[in-house]
Amino acid sequence: MDTFDAIKSRRSIKSFQNYTMSKEEINQLLEAAILSPTSYNIQNWRFVIVTKQEIKDKLCALSYGQKQVAEASLVIILCADLKAWDKDPERYWINIPEGPRQSIAKAIRQSYTGNPTLEKDEAMRSCGFAAQTIMLAAKAMGYDTCPMEGFDFGKVGNLINLPSDHIISMMVVVGKKAKDAAPRGGQLQLSEVVFEDHF
Ligand SMILES: Cc1cc2nc3c(=O)[nH]c(=O)nc-3n(C[C@H](O)[C@H](O)[C@H](O)COP(=O)(O)O)c2cc1C
Repeated sequence: MDTFDAIKSRRSIKSFQNYTMSKEEINQLLEAAILSPTSYNIQNWRFVIVTKQEIKDKLCALSYGQKQVAEASLVIILCADLKAWDKDPERYWINIPEGPRQSIAKAIRQSYTGNPTLEKDEAMRSCGFAAQTIMLAAKAMGYDTCPMEGFDFGKVGNLINLPSDHIISMMVVVGKKAKDAAPRGGQLQLSEVVFEDHF
């Protein structure tokens, strides 16, 4: 599928068919997700994937009954490791020579040490890119999605045993749509949201 077709046809779908995605397809989607950009290539996203109906049902209840969570073939809970920058960052640059690798690792540590705001901002930035990659890749594979933040983050964290140095960014549910999305709510004009050189 052409990239622009994927962008234009991606909608937040609220109703899915009972459909099982193959392990290979789920893997294909996740292999695409991990090509998403991250600052300093720290790859701080972590993906909790759920296909078991019993757990999807629990997630649905924790999402205030939004039924797309129980109906979707796959629920991806996008999390981030806030301390990824401090966990052997040399491994994020394994393909480059030792000297530059050490320099980048040093720069990573300098940027993040004592900077919890950056840890959290970067978590959300990275997961945002990964979510969009997942949604567009899913379209290209013949699936639809819904990004979601309408759930109890604390209880979902407990359900998935979220480590104490990780946070949840959002969920993306994936499946074969049962119903088209309602017409778009309405897009703002470029003239309202784009500024040339400065506000
Ligand atoms: C961060 C985020 C959280 C969202 N949470 C929910 C949600 O909990 N439930 C839902 O039905 N839609 C959710 N949406 C979907 C938005 O309502 C939707 O993206 C928006 O209305 C635009 O529609 P479209 O995605 O079909 O273009 C969320 C979207 C984003 C980006």
